[in-house]
Amino acid sequence: KNIDNLCFKSQSKHNTSSVAVKSEIAQRKDQTDTIAERNPFYVLQEERLEQAERSVLINCPPKTNEKKFLKHLSSHGEINTCFFYESFGTYALVEFSKKESIASLQEGTIIPSIQHEATVPFKSRLVSLKLNNPGDLSSVPSSIQCLRQSAIPINELVQRLSGADTIDQQLYTLTETYQLTEDNVRLRFLVCSLLKDIAAAYFPECTVKLFGSSVNGFGKLGCDLDMFLDLDGISGRKSKKTAGPFTLEYQMKRVSSERAATQKILSVIGECIDQFGPGCVGVQKILNARCPLVRFAHQPSGFQCDLTANNRIAIKSSELLYLYGSLDARVRALVFTVRCWARAHAITSSIPGAWITNFSLAMMVIFFLQKRDPPIIPTLDQLKGLAGPTDKQLIEGHDCTFVSNINRINTTENTETLEQLLKEFFEFYGNFSFSKMSINIRKGKEQSKPDVSPLHIQNPFEQPLNVSKNVNQTQLERFVSLARDSAWILQQDGMSHPLGAGAQPWGLAALLLPSASQTGGKGKKRRKREPASERIKSLLESLKNNKPNSANGNGRR
Ligand code: GTP
Ligand code: MG
Repeated sequence: KNIDNLCFKSQSKHNTSSVAVKSEIAQRKDQTDTIAERNPFYVLQEERLEQAERSVLINCPPKTNEKKFLKHLSSHGEINTCFFYESFGTYALVEFSKKESIASLQEGTIIPSIQHEATVPFKSRLVSLKLNNPGDLSSVPSSIQCLRQSAIPINELVQRLSGADTIDQQLYTLTETYQLTEDNVRLRFLVCSLLKDIAAAYFPECTVKLFGSSVNGFGKLGCDLDMFLDLDGISGRKSKKTAGPFTLEYQMKRVSSERAATQKILSVIGECIDQFGPGCVGVQKILNARCPLVRFAHQPSGFQCDLTANNRIAIKSSELLYLYGSLDARVRALVFTVRCWARAHAITSSIPGAWITNFSLAMMVIFFLQKRDPPIIPTLDQLKGLAGPTDKQLIEGHDCTFVSNINRINTTENTETLEQLLKEFFEFYGNFSFSKMSINIRKGKEQSKPDVSPLHIQNPFEQPLNVSKNVNQTQLERFVSLARDSAWILQQDGMSHPLGAGAQPWGLAALLLPSASQTGGKGKKRRKREPASERIKSLLESLKNNKPNSANGNGRR
């Protein structure tokens, strides 16, 4: 009856749009609240996106006076946060308390008048600060302090780690040094929100979401920005037929498949980013990939961006990794460390190819931690068993159900140190039967390989797929050989104890040196020795028999 009244009121006042919009907003807010209540991962996304919508990115002249700048901006409303950074010039990310401030700022923003060239008048939240009287401010020394948005070079990291007291401390230091900062996360969501404004030119109700390492808890400063154009809110797949004799349905172009629709949409949005997107350069439309995408560089933020569409399962993978990373501090520390180790030895690469990916490495770490005794993290099937009714999710026929409430998951009784875990990780994969077995985080058990790919890691949600299908035998062998070498290095005397503060690279720091596999991290040339596989075998034999480690005596020091 209430609904009838509402319809009647709106019709009688000829004010359908405003009432309908209000009720739609209220309804959406209800939905958001329900999502927010039940799922911390989505709470984070919703909050960050909302913050981003109240934010602008401002290119500032090198000698901007911060105080005067903030005073000028605060004429548009209260400022919540502001920080500066460098990326093809100096930029400020300014977050206002209220969204209205953005409208006010845009109201007072002018379109540049350029001689001999023309501009595409697309008004975004990426603006430039111009000095009306350059003479006024140029005498004022710049008070801007720019925050770093990229990771420190590996040699600086090695130095930093060498000063730590324990290997555990080294792993935590590495994580803290490399993880995304609060500011960097804000910048990531702002770029996502700027992209949404471009896509909204075609699809006003679309959302653009972040997935991958920007949000899964394993992102390293400088990692790419994986975005997903979500049109589900408008696709109406979930809407039901209305009661009564009629239902109105949109007339829409038809295409042969979901994939064809995604390709068309991305092609147009890609074109729009290329033609109108301020700061977006090097736009490539990679539409024939298994997962079609638009790749480009966003210069004002310095991010390499991948925009996909219709990619909800990837968001679920990100949520799963986020959950695992939140369960126990050792998970993130080990994933960060293994990723950094792999990058230092060129096991992973920023160029796509037959290399192991960071995503696969995270899966390998998760699998390893599930196999500890007692396990450090539960299997995906166990997480599914703990799911509540609102966690049920079927995406494109794939069961993506798992618990979202972390409090329902028991904490582990495993007390192994990170030092132990790192050693064991290298030994585990140094000896894993890759030729026969597949890694399966759903079951937490290796299973017979269903095909001949050198490395088989079952996709947790699209179970017939292998997430490391791209990896060739050579790359797998390099990984195994380095894992064996690293296990061996960590077993050496003196590796667990620094010789003094600021000593030579030791422990994890030694493992990250490019020459680690040849020198054992001691900076001295290792004598010619038997293959790594032989060494590790004898090492394991000696450990089993509890004899003194024969490998220690082979001229390592
Ligand atoms: P970075 O190397 O730090 O960017 O890690 P990432 O986790 O963001 O990896 P990437 O940018 O390559 O991929 C983004 C997301 O796409 C991942 O986090 C996964 O959720 C998903 N993804 C990547 N590769 C695969 C794959 O081979 N299979 C599946 N199913 N999903 C993948
Ligand atoms: Mg990524």
